[in-house]
Amino acid sequence: MSGLFRRLAPRTGAVIPFTIDGAPAEARAGDLLLAAILLHRRSLRRFEFGSGERAGYCLMGACQDCWVALADGRRVRACTTPVEPGMPVVTGVADG
Ligand code: FES
Repeated sequence: MSGLFRRLAPRTGAVIPFTIDGAPAEARAGDLLLAAILLHRRSLRRFEFGSGERAGYCLMGACQDCWVALADGRRVRACTTPVEPGMPVVTGVADG
């Protein structure tokens, strides 16, 4: 599966393992959750008002389009949340 984003320059920070719908994924230290997910997937979550999927819009904390769920029930705004080791993201999207 390919992501919506791709890195244009390598990032040399520590590898941060996390999961997306139970599948192992990797980010780099300093990555925000939105970028970390979209490097692996084509969307962040299902659209709650229709059949589509969402991938954020403003990328700067204003539009509220990037809220994602974590397995522990928390919801976080992906574009302003740094990835943490072991973070268990739940997108609800079949194959992203
Ligand atoms: S993408 Fe707009 S608030 Fe996160």
